Amino acid sequence: MDLSYETDRSLALLLAEIDLSAIPARRRAAFTTRLKANFPALFEHFLNLYGTRYDAYLHLRSLVETLAAHQVRKSHAGLPAEGDQPWYLGEDQVGMAAYVDLFGGDLKGMIDRIPYLESLGVTYLHLMPLYDAPKENSDGGYAVSSYRKVDPRLGKNKDLKALADALHTRGIRLVLDFVFNHTSNEHGWAKAALAGDPRYGQFYFLLDEDEAQAYNATLREIFPTVRRGSFTWNDRLGKWVWTTFNSFQWDLNYSNPDVFVSVVGEMLHLVAMGADVLRLDALAFVWKELGTVCESLPKAHTVIQTFNLCLRIAAPHVHFKSEAIVHPDQVNAYIGLDECEISYNPLMMALMWESLATRRAELLSASLERSFSIPDGTVWVNYIRCHDDIGWTWDDAISQRLGIDGGDHRSFLNRFYTGRFEGSFAEGVPFQENPSTGDCRVCGTLASLAGVERAAKAGNALLLDHALRRVKLLNGIMLSMPGLPLLYQGDDLGAFNDPSYLDAPGKAEDSRWVHRKALTETDFDTAADPGTPQGRIAADLAEMIALRKAHGVFGGTEFRLLRPDSPHVFAFLRQRGPERLLVLANFSEHGLPLDLDLAEILGTTKFRDLLDTETALGPVLSGLAPYALHWFHAAG
Ligand code: GLC
Ligand code: GLC
Repeated sequence: MDLSYETDRSLALLLAEIDLSAIPARRRAAFTTRLKANFPALFEHFLNLYGTRYDAYLHLRSLVETLAAHQVRKSHAGLPAEGDQPWYLGEDQVGMAAYVDLFGGDLKGMIDRIPYLESLGVTYLHLMPLYDAPKENSDGGYAVSSYRKVDPRLGKNKDLKALADALHTRGIRLVLDFVFNHTSNEHGWAKAALAGDPRYGQFYFLLDEDEAQAYNATLREIFPTVRRGSFTWNDRLGKWVWTTFNSFQWDLNYSNPDVFVSVVGEMLHLVAMGADVLRLDALAFVWKELGTVCESLPKAHTVIQTFNLCLRIAAPHVHFKSEAIVHPDQVNAYIGLDECEISYNPLMMALMWESLATRRAELLSASLERSFSIPDGTVWVNYIRCHDDIGWTWDDAISQRLGIDGGDHRSFLNRFYTGRFEGSFAEGVPFQENPSTGDCRVCGTLASLAGVERAAKAGNALLLDHALRRVKLLNGIMLSMPGLPLLYQGDDLGAFNDPSYLDAPGKAEDSRWVHRKALTETDFDTAADPGTPQGRIAADLAEMIALRKAHGVFGGTEFRLLRPDSPHVFAFLRQRGPERLLVLANFSEHGLPLDLDLAEILGTTKFRDLLDTETALGPVLSGLAPYALHWFHAAG
């Protein structure tokens, strides 16, 4: 449908009705320019979501008022200027995700950790949710009681601003969580709903028994050990509340435009606090329709694209990062310049662990062949571990072709990583075992899952060496694949699992806490000692990060998967300008014969292994050592 007449009329009406006089003239002009440029798409999306509402125009007007009132100028003095590509595609980028309390104590303590982050080369810091939240259990902060107030245990809003400024002057960008699928049951909106306020009652899904049952029939259970189904009975309301995650996390109802507009206000507040990237938490769940799985529905994309347009108008320097831990095709669907420019890469994450368990890289290679390519100008965040569990998401049609039954294989992986499989090196913990489906996910730190903890405790030097090579292998792939590598706090220090959560109220039931350790000075000191396993992990990591930053070929997105003649080898070739990089990784603890003409692949006999400049190289490689990792580099 051609909406140009309606679009122009609505824009003219809005500009006539909305008072922009409070905004200084130069900023007002820039705002109006951006509004005009983005309005046709904004209008179309908004109508798509809310066009059947008799009051749609009123909400659109309050949306534009919100954008005008909260527009944020970029004022990040320290950040380097952008070159010919978006900053997030640069070889200089290295990310870290950290909990303020577990990593720095509080917001002020985080400032004291900046020198460490700088020495590690971190340029992108994701601080886990730091907003006001229920005291005992807040799902690690993902139950937000106020987006506008920092958790008093971490500090005050001004401390967050100060931290953001301190990070920016050191060239580190700040990533904050935009938790918009749900609020906590203690958020002002939820409290008003509980008190019977009709406006806020419509912010959530408060359903009668038969309605809840009807939805439940087609939903996947996300936290089945918390409570079965996706609804929580509320006595005071006499209703079932939609709670996809924990019972105290109430899903917001985006079919209500009032919710959308209100959430935009909260989003822009986070930007005003200094966020350069917003991490879109649990974004697959935001749109619900009866009779569907209520995940990744077309309108979930429309909602996110509309949020993105709001950013383009009010804070164009900010980018979205997608957190979709779903089927790979659905993960990719959120990625685009008009939706999320940045996305977690859960497929590569899960399949690197799969390869480590099976010693075979075929499922990894075949899956990436289908899913790794994303639109120009967008980027993967490559990671090995994060604050969440490992879920075994891949496309079963691909495993099927390799003769692997998806269900059986997932159950093997769960047994392998939770130590229930004879001969496994891993020390992991199961998460959210579903009694009806047998589904399960896995928790644990990088070092513990890769076997360092077990080998160190057993005092077995050979097994320890293998385990440390596994850690290097995964870190090395993460740092050399196209994308922005993201470390998870503690894994840089080789931290082991921390079982102390089992004694902590509000945490014992959630095994993800096993890899959320409060880091101590001892952890930092041990990792600084080259004689310890942790020290070797840290030193390997530091070396590889320095190499990444020193060579342009690690930036950009140009990339080709190679399929050498061994199921155990993961290989790819990168090129940027005249530079080439060939990465080879042996996922097996056995040495392998391999006949590979390196000179032919690299197009020159003048190359060296960035990770081993000592060993003399011929043009042809005849084999790989156990868990070998090579970065063959030709300067061109
Ligand atoms: C995201 C977070 C996870 C949280 C969930 C609910 O998946 O990463 O930690 O439990 O959303 O907010
Ligand atoms: C589910 C969700 C994902 C979340 C995870 C937390 O897998 O899809 O978004 O990270 O639960 O455990």
